[in-house]
Amino acid sequence: MSITIKTPEEQQKMREAGQAAAEVLLMIAPHVKAGVSTDEINRLCHEFIVAQGDIPAPLNYGGAPGRMPFPKSICTSVNHVVCHGIPGPKVLKKGDVINIDVTVIRDGFHGDTSQMFYVGEPSILARRLTETTHEAMIEGINRVAPGVRLGDIGHAIQQYIEQRGFSVVREYCGHGIGRVFHEDPQVLHYGRPGTGIELQEGMTFTIEPMVNAGRADIKLLPDAWTVVTKDHSLSAQWEHTILVTPTGHEVLTLRNGAL
Ligand code: MF3
Ligand code: CO
Ligand code: CO
Repeated sequence: MSITIKTPEEQQKMREAGQAAAEVLLMIAPHVKAGVSTDEINRLCHEFIVAQGDIPAPLNYGGAPGRMPFPKSICTSVNHVVCHGIPGPKVLKKGDVINIDVTVIRDGFHGDTSQMFYVGEPSILARRLTETTHEAMIEGINRVAPGVRLGDIGHAIQQYIEQRGFSVVREYCGHGIGRVFHEDPQVLHYGRPGTGIELQEGMTFTIEPMVNAGRADIKLLPDAWTVVTKDHSLSAQWEHTILVTPTGHEVLTLRNGAL
């Protein structure tokens, strides 16, 4: 597959899909509290998405020989879960941190975004990891412009995280996005400056660093979806969908104008 350049009309559809995804996170925020199950969070998001006339992209996505398709409409990744947590009977308790990852399809185009939530008061470590991961994503986003290379972005993210004593997950990355959920290019959250493809106006892709408090190593659970830290340390992630503009970038998944 090759990288698709979006026309102005397609860029407008990506803007609308991005906002549709962001609105799901705004809707769910007040419901993320102790005593609520991840299934209930999934149910509320699913109902909201379909009521808007949109499609939850994760539902039935990514089946393969030996792997069931993803069975729910969002991903809920709690504490040491790195990504792709499957909503279920697990009930949130005070001190948990959770990433909720929403991807919707509106009028044929995908918007993909995720955010961390605190359940009650987080530990000092959980807050520092969550904030550092958000800042690292912004470091990457801020570099996006025509002519910049993907390695410049990955390097900026990696450096920011490692300077603060945390580690970048290698096995999962950001991705091109459009009519297709995961398209080229792969957007690594680590790398060397001056390497990788050059960004061009009209590209759309996600930046979604996964950061572990301990070692970078991960393990896939037997459900073939849930990714956890091998050392059971905490993990955090944030994600936005970005458009490359003539002068820099536009974040398509802002929530009320904020990152
Ligand atoms: N939303 C995830 C991403 O950022 C992908 C989830 S795929 C699923 O790319 F099948 F696990 F939902
Ligand atoms: Co993504
Ligand atoms: Co996502």
